[in-house]
Amino acid sequence: MATPGIAIVGCGSAAPTTVLDNDTLGKLVETSDDWISTRTGIRRRHVASPDISLVDLAVQASARAITMADIDPDQIDLVVLATSTADDLFGSAASIQHAVGAKQAVAFDLTAACSGFLFGLVTVSQFLQTGVYKNALLVGADLLSRWVDWDDRRTCVLFGDGAGAIVIQANPDSPGLLGFDLHSDGSQNGCLTLRYESAERPLIDGMSANRGRYGFLDMVGKDVYKFAVTRVPETIEKSLFRADLTIEDIDWLLLHQANQRIVEAVAKRLKIPIDRALGNLSEYGNTSAASIPLALDEAVRSGRVKPGDTIAASGFGAGLSWGSAIFRWGL
Ligand code: UT7
Repeated sequence: MATPGIAIVGCGSAAPTTVLDNDTLGKLVETSDDWISTRTGIRRRHVASPDISLVDLAVQASARAITMADIDPDQIDLVVLATSTADDLFGSAASIQHAVGAKQAVAFDLTAACSGFLFGLVTVSQFLQTGVYKNALLVGADLLSRWVDWDDRRTCVLFGDGAGAIVIQANPDSPGLLGFDLHSDGSQNGCLTLRYESAERPLIDGMSANRGRYGFLDMVGKDVYKFAVTRVPETIEKSLFRADLTIEDIDWLLLHQANQRIVEAVAKRLKIPIDRALGNLSEYGNTSAASIPLALDEAVRSGRVKPGDTIAASGFGAGLSWGSAIFRWGL
């Protein structure tokens, strides 16, 4: 399934300046740097203070991606924000569209938890490959610090805040997205949730509305771990098959950053040397929809990833949802 016609020409990222390291977190819940770093590879995470919005970070990341792409914001036709933690339940993509000056663009949010950026990459590529749009901005951003239970050591140590963005262009001369594979399994939805909790609000004459609120992020860690180490290698192999490529054709493995042990297990299953796996878990923890574009941006700006490099990316998480895409960086 070769899908010619797109080029990823710009990337950018942003994270809050406030950093919470494992030792400091140990003052809040009963945990230790040793437990967190051994089990997950996480050493620090960035936490948005109350005066920082999701849109603030997304706009910083987007502006950097647009500058690298060297296009005028007016040329952007489509803005997609992959997030589960929008500032506004009606969506935050339009606020990004306005702030970056993408006056001509249509903008909408896409929610697929930690798979959001990957699902967004495939979604945006469809619009470009059909020739409907020429330039798109795809943002992955999440502030899970707003939604974790800071008294629950099982979850609060895992997550951090961040945003990443890419500019994707229709380009008949570039293969861009070489293959992809997407999945959902709602039968396992209970493994990872951030649920609305009902509360009755009586109206009149025996009539009532549901005026509840969202609770805390909750996860059955072991089940999600097993799901990830099984499904991620499978989906990457499927995408490679559809792209008519083999593992030897891949320059970089770029997984959603949930746990370094997952990255290592997947690299081993696929027989990809671990130094070919891009990542930033130690610095940011799990930033959900932001983790893939954040790691990509750092790797591009440091010169590790070069134009023409082939990347196998995979996202996985709540839904449950998972998927992969094989793409080239740059022109
Ligand atoms: O982005 C979405 C995708 N998410 C993932 O992919 C996450 C997948 N899951 C994981 O990465 C791992 O399951 C975790 C890192 C979440 C947990 O690691 P684990 O090796 O599965 O640990 P566990 O949950 O089995 O807990 C082992 C022990 C327990 O104590 P007991 O019952 O053995 O006495 C926990 O109470 O570790 C304890 N524990 C902690 N101890 C210190 C749990 N959290 C902590 C903590 N500090 N923060």
